[in-house]
Amino acid sequence: MCGIVGYIGEKQAQPILVAGLKRLEYRGYDSAGIATMSPKAKVTLLRAKGKVSGLDEKVTTHTTTDTVGVGHTRWATHGEPSKRNAHPHHVGDIYLVHNGIIENYQDLKAMLARHDYDFKSDTDTEVLTALIDYLARDADNLLAAVSGALKMVVGAYGIAVLSVANPNEIIIARKGSPLIVGVGGGEVFIASDASALVGHTDQVIYMHDGEIGVCTTSGVQLYDIDAHSVEAKVEKLEIDLQSIQKKGFDHFLLKEIYDQPDSLRSTLRGRVNLDTSSVKLGGLNMTNDELREVRNIMVVGCGTAYYAGMMAGYFVEQFTDDVTIRAEIASELRYRSFSVPEHTVALIVSQSGETADTLACLQELQRRGVKCLGVVNAVGSTIAREVDGGVYVHVGAEISVASTKAFTSQVAAITMFGMMIAQAKGVSPRELNGYVRELDLLPGEIESVLEKTADEVRDIAATYANYEHALYVGRDTLYPIALEGALKLKEVSYIQAEGHAAGELKHGPIALIDDRFFVVCYLQDNWLYEKTQSNLVEMNARGAHAIVITDTDKRVPAETVIRVKTKLQVLTPLVFNVVSQLLAYYIATARGNDVDQPRNLAKSVTVE
Ligand code: F6R
Repeated sequence: MCGIVGYIGEKQAQPILVAGLKRLEYRGYDSAGIATMSPKAKVTLLRAKGKVSGLDEKVTTHTTTDTVGVGHTRWATHGEPSKRNAHPHHVGDIYLVHNGIIENYQDLKAMLARHDYDFKSDTDTEVLTALIDYLARDADNLLAAVSGALKMVVGAYGIAVLSVANPNEIIIARKGSPLIVGVGGGEVFIASDASALVGHTDQVIYMHDGEIGVCTTSGVQLYDIDAHSVEAKVEKLEIDLQSIQKKGFDHFLLKEIYDQPDSLRSTLRGRVNLDTSSVKLGGLNMTNDELREVRNIMVVGCGTAYYAGMMAGYFVEQFTDDVTIRAEIASELRYRSFSVPEHTVALIVSQSGETADTLACLQELQRRGVKCLGVVNAVGSTIAREVDGGVYVHVGAEISVASTKAFTSQVAAITMFGMMIAQAKGVSPRELNGYVRELDLLPGEIESVLEKTADEVRDIAATYANYEHALYVGRDTLYPIALEGALKLKEVSYIQAEGHAAGELKHGPIALIDDRFFVVCYLQDNWLYEKTQSNLVEMNARGAHAIVITDTDKRVPAETVIRVKTKLQVLTPLVFNVVSQLLAYYIATARGNDVDQPRNLAKSVTVE
């Protein structure tokens, strides 16, 4: 949430900062701003409500040749989206951009008010800016002032600070909110997300919590919170320009839906062996004996990542009798007095690797001595670094706020982890063969469903785009798919959508059905076909406008039927899910929505 960029070098900073903010816009789009500073310490501060394009217009009329600057794109926490609340904030000598939340800002504000500071915005960030300015009056240097201020602060932050007293440096710091520094060639790039660094450098330093950095044209020097110098580890940036471009698609969301065959192939590559009917995950850091010992798997995530855990759980519990798997919503788990049974391993699932609630659960589980493995996409992210081992899903950059390709690969990765445990427990290749074969087939099956159904789904979407309510229903493995389908629709179309287990309809939700609702019913031709069909008939009897997504050739009693031809049996729900991703996309675009940046949302929820 929110994006930070910074630059110090010999090039003109404004275009670099604005281009970086455009790449980070998916992190927040309530307001944007940049501050650049000349060698004589003259600062040009430009801020605009709304998207980065508004800021870009201001830059064309206030162009500078400054080569030092910081920028921000905001997702509002404290204070409404407005120019007044936009970053960078300016107090006295200090200009500051901030991601995160300063929890004790009210106390600090009261203290600073007693020292004659008055405040123009409603933000916690302005208070931190004033605090640094206040401490800088008596500090030896800017580093000491920032370090002193951060010691007084309770909360989470990623910050970048300019001071007119020090025109040749930018100070950065992180605690609970990511910051990455790109280095090399007499310049330093700062970003809260690797995508803003792509194309500038592939040499990066992932900052750790508690670190402060002093950036100059010679590079970055890192310090701990007490301003003692610490060593920086330079790593290679894993993402490339290709993966952050739309490749001819109208939206990142559609591009990422279409990425799925290939992104899934990357998840499976070198891990699924059809010849031996086995899987192998390299980075678990667990011996075969340790895997054999596992009795409980706790999968922790938020939103789509949580649904991926729930979905994979249905598969994993079929592999062996002595493993229990349960998915937990991170924001709930972290405040519950939950118990962890012996022989538990936790899977921490996160596309971004930065989700605040998921990270908090990881830290709590590790504190209790639970082995925690990551199922993460973003290489070098906080969760990826803090887990004891894990599986990267390798789906490439996911830019659209609504998660699609990450879900499919998270389900595949957790399923493979379950198979690793089953293998260690002596489950035979013959017993796992069906799953191994289907994992191998899945990318091709997704490719084929995209090819065969996209046009049909687009036409159907046009018919249902004007409804304001939707119900998604399914049984067994299709229940988490119903939850995920409803989440996708509501996020991008703003249609109120609920997902339910089909068997629960009579226990309440069926009361909702009327002419203003459409229903998406997932109907798989398996042992639950008749049961789900009965639910469908009951809904039809109440006038439901039903869209059925099914793999059957049989006659289906519904207003609209989307038939999916597939060789799959157990993994069919993942193919159905791709159809509902398309449905959400086309309904939202038919309604004229900005599907890549839906209202009120931002990618990567780094605050609670
Ligand atoms: C839904 C969506 C969110 C994320 C959730 C977790 O489309 O994108 O529900 O899945 O915020 O994010 P990560 O996986 O980054 O932890």
